[in-house]
Amino acid sequence: MRVDLSLHIGSLRLKNPLIAASGCFGYGVEYADVVDLSTLGAVVSKGLFLQPREGHPAPRIVETPSGMLNAIGLQGIGARRFVDEKMPELRARGATVIVNVCGTTIDEYAEVSRIVSDAEGVGAIELNISCPNIKEGGIQFGCSLNGTFDVVQAVRKVTRLPLIPKLTPNVTDVASFARASEEAGADAISLVNTFLAMAIDVETRTPKLSNVLGGLSGPAIRPIAVRMVWECHQAVKLPILGMGGIATVQDALEFIIAGASAVQVGTANFADPFLWRKLIDGLDAYLERHKIARVQDLVGRLEMPRREHAWTES
Ligand SMILES: Cc1cc2nc3c(=O)[nH]c(=O)nc-3n(C[C@H](O)[C@H](O)[C@H](O)COP(=O)(O)O)c2cc1C
Repeated sequence: MRVDLSLHIGSLRLKNPLIAASGCFGYGVEYADVVDLSTLGAVVSKGLFLQPREGHPAPRIVETPSGMLNAIGLQGIGARRFVDEKMPELRARGATVIVNVCGTTIDEYAEVSRIVSDAEGVGAIELNISCPNIKEGGIQFGCSLNGTFDVVQAVRKVTRLPLIPKLTPNVTDVASFARASEEAGADAISLVNTFLAMAIDVETRTPKLSNVLGGLSGPAIRPIAVRMVWECHQAVKLPILGMGGIATVQDALEFIIAGASAVQVGTANFADPFLWRKLIDGLDAYLERHKIARVQDLVGRLEMPRREHAWTES
């Protein structure tokens, strides 16, 4: 049986639902000799502002149980250099490119989105309103319902590309942010970005990160991320790009069954950049074994146990 792994996000067709997550795959080109970029569903670029940024000083990464803490501070080359220097190779390698757009103001989000929309070969915009590691912009929009609505609506006006706000898990009710994104004109949502967290060196009694706070990612966050995807799937009709600690095909399947149309892999790529083939083949094998012709037929197909009151039965 041949299975169909493809999906659509707005006008963008992905050949499969396995996507390299922003910040964990460079600009894509760095991995091009190790991974055939054209075999991935898509590659999401590192977050881009209008201007280049240096990010935070070291130390910017700390290993934690079943995960990592980072406070890179969105170091990046800026939108124009990305378009001029990285897009030609990404196009040549046949990559489907989603650009992770950042901003400190709504105007900056709109301007960066305009620049990448004019570039040849960009497939979609992922709107980063959820980075926990920067002082201005980002998560301030993502933690406010009005902020989320306003920035999505403003960017919607300047681009025809599929628009995918990336939601933060650092809120009480993530589903309401999914709804605000849908009302403002998003084509899909991504979740989750990292969880605001902290680690302390007890000998020196100093924070382990120069920025004091950082974002937690990796397997430690996976069950919370799966729960959030499940909540959003019930709240909106938009396709969901789910992520958080995915390292195996079973992990990816959990997200898909919870309601994700596609999944992104971040931290696990640092440990094993060769995991992509295993994930694609594993997904194929699972669908065949379960006689499911299209991966999209599996999205949100969580079977809920019937509630039975065991104590009433004899
Ligand atoms: C080192 C590092 C850098 C990241 N940079 C970005 C970024 O630039 N933009 C963004 O939206 N998310 C960024 N993220 C978040 C990831 O894309 C992803 O949402 C998060 O790490 C959860 O997935 P994971 O557990 O598979 O890593 C970064 C994560 C890490 C670990």
